[in-house]
Amino acid sequence: MLIMTSQWLIGLVYVLAAFLLIFGLWRMSSPVTASGGIHVAGWGMGAAVIVSFLYVLTVSEAARPHLPVNVSLALLALLLGGGAAWWSGRKAAMTAMPQMVALYNGMGGGAAAAIAAMELFGGRVVDLAALAGTLLGALIGAVSLSGSLIAWAKLDGRLNKPLRLKGLQLINALLMLVTLGAGAWLMIALQAADGASGQLLGLIAVFFGCALLFGVLMTLPIGGADMPVVISIYNAFTGLAVGLEGFVLQVPAMMIAGMLVGAAGVLLTLLMAKAMNRSVAHVLFARFGDQPTRKGAAIVGELKPTAASDAGVAMRYANTVIIVPGYGLAVAQGQQKLYELVKLLQAHGVLVRFAVHPVAGRMPGQMDVLLAEAGVPYDLIFQLDDINTDFPSTDMVLVIGANDVVNPAARTDKASPIYGMPILDVDKAHHVYVVKRGEGKGYAGIQNPLFYAENCNMVYGDAQAVLVKMIEAVRGLG
Ligand code: TAP
Repeated sequence: MLIMTSQWLIGLVYVLAAFLLIFGLWRMSSPVTASGGIHVAGWGMGAAVIVSFLYVLTVSEAARPHLPVNVSLALLALLLGGGAAWWSGRKAAMTAMPQMVALYNGMGGGAAAAIAAMELFGGRVVDLAALAGTLLGALIGAVSLSGSLIAWAKLDGRLNKPLRLKGLQLINALLMLVTLGAGAWLMIALQAADGASGQLLGLIAVFFGCALLFGVLMTLPIGGADMPVVISIYNAFTGLAVGLEGFVLQVPAMMIAGMLVGAAGVLLTLLMAKAMNRSVAHVLFARFGDQPTRKGAAIVGELKPTAASDAGVAMRYANTVIIVPGYGLAVAQGQQKLYELVKLLQAHGVLVRFAVHPVAGRMPGQMDVLLAEAGVPYDLIFQLDDINTDFPSTDMVLVIGANDVVNPAARTDKASPIYGMPILDVDKAHHVYVVKRGEGKGYAGIQNPLFYAENCNMVYGDAQAVLVKMIEAVRGLG
């Protein structure tokens, strides 16, 4: 009776957790409701974690002696993992969020692979469908773990140059063949041996080793501006891996959470690939054999620095201004000052709008969240497709901390690593002011001809400090 009631209760809480996760994800689709959505999803995850401890009420007599050790280990893991996440979450700067997300994503894939490893080493999976699910989840989870760690190193600036070796394409193809071969062999052998995995430890190790190495080698050559696609594809991988392991363990919360993350990751991957005008296959495989010899076309013109106050005053007398925020705005945490400037310009009758590129910053949606945090009304924020044709009729553009997303080389220079990526056509506006600290390059590491264009002036300085000067200058006009 107690077991039946407990199972009923566990099922009910899992349904509630699933509802909270789905509702939370839905609220995350808009920057206005995103922060509340994260809390709702957090409650859902909390409920799923707590209810998983109720399994102690449902275990068989034979398993009961193991309960104290198992529950203690689970609590210890929860304490260590939760403590580390709490500490790092509070400590990490806003600009370090993308690499933190990549790291946690990798942990999710690693956890799914670890579950699969335990099941395989323990010889607990013998059914063919369950074995296939376990091995597929293990493969995807392991690739996601090692690939996400490389993505973390790239986003954190620890790996600055993409590694491109001749023949890497072949090595990766062979590595995948060996991994799949080891997986197929394991499936047949584990079934024949009825789960006894003692003889197969070496083969299991080869399977995991090759999958991990594949994730590393697949991610190392990807660089330039293609990282958004990579991040979202590993997101999808982790979700799929967790969902598959949930299916093997028959844990509904894992299945639902995994499938939600997997589906969201797939959609995000397609959106990011569209934003970059690349196919996912091109991002993942086209660079395997490349040599890093590409150089951008020679740049004509000169840089023309101007004072922040002059740029501020010029915008005050413009009719229309479009502001393009980029990664540097997040670094400078200048969003509040930016909105203060916008309100001042609006008070003087200037029509001000924001143009957001889908891959601006280092995380999908980072600029939308940044502007929402400063209280910028959502109807002032326009996405690339909705505003790009307005630049030729715009008096002034303020590019603040952005670089790659406004680089016209993407339209014209076939040798450029960002060639083909849709950009914000700010160079077509009547006049452009670019705020950045110096002559630093963007994430793709290439020169930007916009800065040398006739209609462009550079305003050097930290974005927040420059905005303070612009505000003072506009206020000074009365
Ligand atoms: P970036 O091209 O990275 O350019 C940012 C610019 O901001 C730099 O040139 C830098 O120049 C300037 N900057 C840095 N700190 C600053 C500060 N405190 N004040 C003023 N300026 C500052 O940024 P973007 O245009 O937003 O493009 C994003 C790039 O990241 C794309 O290549 C994209 O593919 C890539 N990426 C995006 C994502 C996602 S999902 N969004 C993920 C990974 C990679 P100075 O050093 O001279 O100041």
